[in-house]
Amino acid sequence: MDKNFYITTPIYYPSARPHMGHAYSSIIADFFARFKKIDGYKVHFLTGTDEHGLKIQRSAEKNNIEPLEFCNQISLTFRDLSKILNLTNTDFIRTTENRHKVSVQHLWNELIKNDEIYLSKYSGWYSVSDEAYYNDDEIIDQEGKKISILSKSTVEWIEEESYFFRLSKWQKPLLDYYLSHPNFISPPSRKKEVISFVESGLKDLSVSRKSFSWGIPVPNSKDHIIYVWLDALTNYISALNYPDMNDLLFKNFWPASLHLIGKDIIRFHAVYWPAFLMAAKINLPLKVYGHGWILSDNEKMSKSKGNILDPIEIINQYGVDPLRYYLIKEVSFGNDGNISQERLENCINSDLANNFGNLCQRVSTFAITNCNSRIPENISLNTEDLVILNKFKNDLNNIRSKIDEQDINFYINYIVNALFEANKYFNDQEPWKKKDDLIRLNSIVYTALEIVRKISFMLYPIIPNSALKALKIFNLNEKDIIFSTIDNYNYLKKGSNINKIDILFKKVEKNND
Ligand code: MSP
Repeated sequence: MDKNFYITTPIYYPSARPHMGHAYSSIIADFFARFKKIDGYKVHFLTGTDEHGLKIQRSAEKNNIEPLEFCNQISLTFRDLSKILNLTNTDFIRTTENRHKVSVQHLWNELIKNDEIYLSKYSGWYSVSDEAYYNDDEIIDQEGKKISILSKSTVEWIEEESYFFRLSKWQKPLLDYYLSHPNFISPPSRKKEVISFVESGLKDLSVSRKSFSWGIPVPNSKDHIIYVWLDALTNYISALNYPDMNDLLFKNFWPASLHLIGKDIIRFHAVYWPAFLMAAKINLPLKVYGHGWILSDNEKMSKSKGNILDPIEIINQYGVDPLRYYLIKEVSFGNDGNISQERLENCINSDLANNFGNLCQRVSTFAITNCNSRIPENISLNTEDLVILNKFKNDLNNIRSKIDEQDINFYINYIVNALFEANKYFNDQEPWKKKDDLIRLNSIVYTALEIVRKISFMLYPIIPNSALKALKIFNLNEKDIIFSTIDNYNYLKKGSNINKIDILFKKVEKNND
């Protein structure tokens, strides 16, 4: 039976060029996508841009460009970033595409048909920056301005005719759903926050706007456009060709396995989205995970604070794999993390260059010189060899279940420990002193090579380019990377060639010591 895995990133607002926070969501999603792929799943990985709404319309006006032209330009920078980050996304959706518009209007009609939407008048607070409505008790005064307590963004008062979605009616079904599906919202801190928001009472939600035009028109209704979050959330199914629920994409990949998002947009994904889906009688995604923020100088990045970190600058300076490694290892997943150049450089020098790069280099060079550039054939593995080789075997299923709990920290720590043990093994066994006992020398080299192979497989979802470079030692390609084989200590074909590889990571020169 096919195993399918559908993972999504948030679709990004193309109101300004991408920053490190966007890169973070995408890199983490790619990590899961690549892991599942090497673990035998058919993977659908969606990312894209969220192009409608007042926020985008105003940004375009500021730049004196038509909204669509503005979106065309900036959406391209997000698409380019996907390539630079080496993402394996299988689709990139833009909400200005016709396939998406058709899907959103169909969903709207379904909601109308099910009597989930009615016409009334909205008066209340709205944040254009968040594209979100806020209640009175979610607003405070700050230096004469009204701001949202949650996001600190400025809110404005709006009053206009609007269609409403009967969100209040879904309060109880949502709470029941959270209870019966305890893994639906993760991590637990986010789940608590969502439950207490829903328990505090849900009001019907305004789902159309009249005072501007940049959006998808409400079917059969002059002047109204669909609320940008109802529009945007639908991307997760429009990319699967909804409303054609017999389409193979939809059949294979809905419900989504994981919506990966930032913690600031948990309410939309864990309250509004499941309510819309329930109301339209569509299955709910299996999980919504709200990760923390990447902070710059201990604050969330924003244009107004002038503390935006550009992923492309960092990549130009250090390379994409070091950035991927750093973000995955150094940010405790689920929490906020401050990005620091010093810690990034430490990761490159100690983990990547000293631990991984050096292990690959010294084991392969030793094998080339002492084993005739071949995987040793004449071996006899002793207990110490088998202990280190079998460790992976015993941990395989545990690693899988940790991945299903999004425990990235476990995964990376596992690798860091395995690298430490592998280097220690090679040092302690001293194969260079075993030139009179070729069987022992061969066995140590064989064991060390197998470990290099296993660790490279495990590192592939994190640092794909470097892992592939390391696997050149064995002439292995991307298609050969199969996670389940890390429990096999007989994987390497004895007698086959070993290649010399280039240095994997250049150390960063530091001038402070
Ligand atoms: N367009 C909406 C999402 C719609 S999904 C149906 C949106 N876009 S966004 O561009 O503002 O943000 C996209 C994602 O980037 C969000 O998950 C947000 O949490 C994340 N990040 C934005 N700044 C961030 C950091 N500083 N750190 C980590 N991620 C943050 O919201």
